[in-house]
Amino acid sequence: MSKNVLIRTFGCQMNVYDSQVAAGLLEKAGYQVFFEGDNSGEEENLEKNNSGKADIVLMNTCSVRDHAENRVWGRLGMLGIEKKKNPDLIIGLMGCMVEEHREKLFKRFPQLDLMIGTRNIKELPQLIRQIQEKRQQVSRIKQDGVSIEYSEFTKRESGFHAWLPIMTGCDKVCTFCIVPKTRGHEVSMSARDVCSEAKRLVEDGVKWITLLGQNVNSYDGGHVSFPQLLGQLCEIDGLERLSFTTSHPQDATEELFQSIARNPKIGRRLHLPLQSGSDKILKRMKRLHTYGEYKTRIERLRELVPDISITTDIIVGFSGESDEDYQATKRALEEIRFDGAFIYKYSVRPGTPASNLPDDVSQTIKAHRNNELLKVQRQVMREKNEMLLGKTFSVFVESLNPENPKERIGRTDQDKRVYFESKEADLGSFVKVRLTDLRHETFRGEKV
Ligand code: SAH
Ligand code: F3S
Repeated sequence: MSKNVLIRTFGCQMNVYDSQVAAGLLEKAGYQVFFEGDNSGEEENLEKNNSGKADIVLMNTCSVRDHAENRVWGRLGMLGIEKKKNPDLIIGLMGCMVEEHREKLFKRFPQLDLMIGTRNIKELPQLIRQIQEKRQQVSRIKQDGVSIEYSEFTKRESGFHAWLPIMTGCDKVCTFCIVPKTRGHEVSMSARDVCSEAKRLVEDGVKWITLLGQNVNSYDGGHVSFPQLLGQLCEIDGLERLSFTTSHPQDATEELFQSIARNPKIGRRLHLPLQSGSDKILKRMKRLHTYGEYKTRIERLRELVPDISITTDIIVGFSGESDEDYQATKRALEEIRFDGAFIYKYSVRPGTPASNLPDDVSQTIKAHRNNELLKVQRQVMREKNEMLLGKTFSVFVESLNPENPKERIGRTDQDKRVYFESKEADLGSFVKVRLTDLRHETFRGEKV
């Protein structure tokens, strides 16, 4: 039977986690799984072992921007050509595009064998077997239930770090966003389940857990709020660092900030999407806060946790964004001085509230604003990072540098990447490193 599975993951960390669960389940069922596009070199192994040929290709897809979808359409076309040469090739889709487009894709792409919803991952091995036996198109897309699987077989990329989803879906209605449609309403895992999964991971050698959710701050684990959950998790012996993503500014409360300030185990980084610096646009996006309110919260957080690193998401060219609105966003980047920012060009998502608004900023202007903001942000980051040179940080050591085995790769509490030399293995432990040099956005350092 055909046994080599290649999984390609698009989109957010929730998809990364789902791919790891899928891979674990398939390996348990006797398949050999390779992730495409990571740094593990496994893709290379696949090339070597199987002359570049996978028997089964799964794409875990993202619908958040049309760019992400276009890459999957393109890849499906290429796989269709490959399937003409190799009719046994099995092609499957997982993730948000399955939820969004559903079975109608089978007609548009006859080469597609499998569509599996985000709540059905457990059934993956059985569905693949069904396709192998019957050679028919198969779909399983459940509408209700939770799309989070905790599994001891999950194929993690690191022995020391694990993703841990605690909630999924979103009840906010940001007008540009398709996530409420593809991932549904907010559902939280119980605090008991989260804590026992975290303990299991720690027993398995994990030292650092990143909690995942479309909006983790809305976590509601049966009378346990998100800050309370953080407190419970911090008590687990052997868990050394705890991070989380993503937060909505409205739910980033004083209670959360106090919890970060109180618990040294919580990583000193908060990802807090701002989207726009213009109140008019924020209102049109239904972000539920003004720029002033956002800024006040950041100031309070910086007061409580002076070494916090704050990162953000920005959308340029949203419907109605005038030059004045755009300038407000640019000013916001200069004023807040984020430690990192993802800057996206607005793309209309079908069925979202904003799809009824005109997409009235031209591609040229979107591209120009995007490039200009990237430049502003790079400059801010360079200045901020340069100020860290000469300082010593506690660095969590994640891996060896595959290109130089003398070097280790680690991350500071602020989630900044550092390369440094070491005679010891250090993997999975914290060491003190003085930052000595900066290349692009990566630091070099010396162990002290
Ligand atoms: N809270 C979610 C946000 C998901 S989308 C999370 O889990 O991260 C991630 C980012 O994509 C958003 O913050 C927004 O900046 C961007 N984005 C969402 N919809 C978009 C659209 N239609 N066009 C451009 N960017 C978009
Ligand atoms: Fe999307 Fe807004 Fe929720 S960006 S995921 S609707 S908080």
